[in-house]
Amino acid sequence: MERMKFPENFRWGTATSAFQIEGAWNEDGKGESNWDRWCHTPGKIKEGGAGDAAVDHYHRWREDVDLMKTMGLNAYRFSIAWSRVQPSGRGDLNPKGVEFYGRLIDALCEAGIEPYVTLCHYDIPQALEERGGWINRNIADRFADYARLMARGFGDRVTHWMTINEPICIAEGHYANTGEPPGLGDPQAGIQAAHHLLLAHARAMQAIKAEAGYRQKVGIVVNLYPIQPFAGKAPLDPKVAQDTAAAVRLADGYLNRWWLDPIYLGTYPQDVWAHRDYLPEVDEADMDLIGGGQDFLGVNYYHRLVVRPAYVKGRLTFEVVSPQELGTPSTQMGWEIYPEGLREILSRLAADYSSPEIYVSENGLSWDDKLAADGMIHDDYRIDFLRRHIEMVSRAIAGGVNVQGYFVWTLMDNFEWELGWTQHFGLVHVDIQTMKRTVKDSGRWYQDFIAAQRGRQ
Ligand code: FCB
Repeated sequence: MERMKFPENFRWGTATSAFQIEGAWNEDGKGESNWDRWCHTPGKIKEGGAGDAAVDHYHRWREDVDLMKTMGLNAYRFSIAWSRVQPSGRGDLNPKGVEFYGRLIDALCEAGIEPYVTLCHYDIPQALEERGGWINRNIADRFADYARLMARGFGDRVTHWMTINEPICIAEGHYANTGEPPGLGDPQAGIQAAHHLLLAHARAMQAIKAEAGYRQKVGIVVNLYPIQPFAGKAPLDPKVAQDTAAAVRLADGYLNRWWLDPIYLGTYPQDVWAHRDYLPEVDEADMDLIGGGQDFLGVNYYHRLVVRPAYVKGRLTFEVVSPQELGTPSTQMGWEIYPEGLREILSRLAADYSSPEIYVSENGLSWDDKLAADGMIHDDYRIDFLRRHIEMVSRAIAGGVNVQGYFVWTLMDNFEWELGWTQHFGLVHVDIQTMKRTVKDSGRWYQDFIAAQRGRQ
């Protein structure tokens, strides 16, 4: 099949998150999470969906591990629901919750699938949310304590930890905007949460290593976007061209460098700091801690962003141009399909941030999959999408970028946050009435692809 080259022991995986797949929202001593509360608040989730049962992974995890084993995966990225293991976000652990993840981790190891564990993929105990959630600086202590306990329990079998998934989505989606819990719609809260997320990441990293040893590898997961200038049809006049370049730099600063610079350079990007209307409170020692070095970076890549200048109260800022206006293909989420952007962002990381070790921790697409008469899903579009993106990873590697693994988002169709059940990203179809799992053509393709790669090594 494909003539692509990957390093020996490259990790081929899929990614999921607890809230999107587990269900069992109040079973076996699990505490309420912020997302449980949000789903139970009328009007918050599209078409009234809820994650209460999700896709019942809590009860069907063995079958799900078997599916991955059949696919030949050697890695699986999943998250721990903090509210399942430490129901109120402090104090005693819930033994049944800990047992659940212990069994899952054991089964993965037995199947030759290395666990990559995310500690926070958006859901936190509701009790912490009520104390301000990520706006309250104390959450960094709570998170470090939780991380330490997980490292104590699982550090003999788990060596790769992903602290926080997509902190920008938590800061903006959950606090600055209104669509996700607690939906404050307060930009000052959002930027303060952003800082506390970085702080909590750094504190968790220290805690994991202190508890389970320096062999443990820890990283954060960020969603990155290559930013490109909107060219339009006619050549830009020099002033617009200049403003477009400034808009590109600003967008990159707000979306990418705001997270990468603190982690790798120990400082917030000065141009964005000077431009922002709202700024976080930062304690003196924070930046040294945050910039203290991490072992790897998880990169979630879905699409690029094309921007043009916009002027708010006479001040230059940026505006995103939609795929519709660009006339380019997009997925059911409305995200542009742009594989080349993955190579671009990976190469840029190597160039600007001293070649970090990288995992592509999420990449995939949602589509309005249709069950065919034979009961299967023939998702050639997903195969095409994955193949083209994986090819970009191989090209980045050929260009010297240190990428160690690739995780498809996602193993199976699941609960897509405020969009509820309307999006289908999985390699495996799930009938949410019966919970029956059916491998899509893309799942089989991934299996063949991985086997062919191994055969070539
Ligand atoms: C990412 C999230 C993941 C899923 C995909 C589609 O931003 O990390 O949980 O929602 O998007």
